[in-house]
Amino acid sequence: MNSYIESIDFFRGNDPEQIAEKYGTPLYVYSEDTIRNRMETVNKVITKYDYTANYSVKANTNLTILKLALDEGINCDAMSMGELMMLKKAGFPSDRIFFVPNNVPDEELEYAIKNDIIVSLDSLAQIERYGKLVAKLGKGHECAARINPGVGAGHSEKVVTGGKKTKFGIAEADIPKIQPILDKYDLKLIGINQHIGSQFLDPQPYLDAVENLLRIARGFKGLKFIDFGGGYGIPYHKLEDEADYPMEDFKTRLLPILDAFVSDYGYAPLFKSEPGRFCVAEGGVILGRVNAIKENAGKTYIGTDIGMNTLIRPAMYDSYHDIEIIRDGKTVPRENMSEASVTGQICESGDLLAKDRMLPEAKEGDLVCVLDAGAYGYAMASTYNTRPRPAEVMICSDGSVKQIRRRETYEDLMALF
Ligand code: LLP
Repeated sequence: MNSYIESIDFFRGNDPEQIAEKYGTPLYVYSEDTIRNRMETVNKVITKYDYTANYSVKANTNLTILKLALDEGINCDAMSMGELMMLKKAGFPSDRIFFVPNNVPDEELEYAIKNDIIVSLDSLAQIERYGKLVAKLGKGHECAARINPGVGAGHSEKVVTGGKKTKFGIAEADIPKIQPILDKYDLKLIGINQHIGSQFLDPQPYLDAVENLLRIARGFKGLKFIDFGGGYGIPYHKLEDEADYPMEDFKTRLLPILDAFVSDYGYAPLFKSEPGRFCVAEGGVILGRVNAIKENAGKTYIGTDIGMNTLIRPAMYDSYHDIEIIRDGKTVPRENMSEASVTGQICESGDLLAKDRMLPEAKEGDLVCVLDAGAYGYAMASTYNTRPRPAEVMICSDGSVKQIRRRETYEDLMALF
């Protein structure tokens, strides 16, 4: 494919050059249409039984995006008190929020209990801690537990969250120790959840993990919900026509597994999943400016203002993001390509957006457009090298462009001192 953004008219007729001039670069740009479409898709993964997708907000907590989730009727999961507070600010009622924390102090559990938000406890120690708080506060008796499924999957070892090598969840061998703690504090386990990892395009490991969790679920009586976690991948190599996550095939293969469980268990609890990336990744791009081009030891470096402070995924996981070069508002055709690395402004050799990539020729003053940056992009951005974090704008469904987070200023950075 020559240009993804042009093939779907990502900017909805707006000129990316004008957007970049008005709001500055680097700039996160989101497509309301794409995000709504993906949220709608994940909310229909299961239609035969009671089901809700929980958008995993760690992927992107911009308030406007959370409000889109609210409007799309999708629920959310949160990992921290900050995420819980953002969801409350967006207007989510407590029964549409699931708190899935890891090693948190009393303060965060107490916030959830006081706000009637169901918490998934990730270890026997956290069930104990939670139980003591319930005894103190006199509420929050219903809770969930995160099970380590024993298997994992993902694009990098750093994002595999299931299996013996990870810190997450309660190991199957420890499951018999859960009930005595629940009894001690008069707690009732109403749900179990898991998450095997992130960014897979083959549904098989997830289906295996669903089957495994349902086998474990048969040992718990009276569950109100079972949550299979997130991880559905997106095609990061779309310019090379990589295929989408096979959602329809996945749904077809999931159903008989659920049917078998429901028939054994006697009823269908609410089923949930926790997609983050799938909801927002493709709905976001980053626009940056080419500030300098140089040759070093025979290699070409396209120096932009998108550093690892703006998008850390390539530096952190060797992640691949497609890049388009935009000149005079149009994508430069993928012709006469040559090898170049795309870098940012950060004082680290690992500050590479793309390494030895075949790209059309770039010129100083061009824009670069980094695709699939809507998930774990801004959410993981930092102020490293004392660079304020970028602004975020949204291309709304009516074609208008709205700033949905202002650019951080140097004053913002100084204000903490
Ligand atoms: N549920 C739980 C408990 C999780 O830990 C995660 C992601 C999700 C759901 C959502 O997973 P998703 O559907 O987005 O794959 N920063 C990494 C990804 C880390 C994911 C951490 N947990 C990246 O940029 O690839």
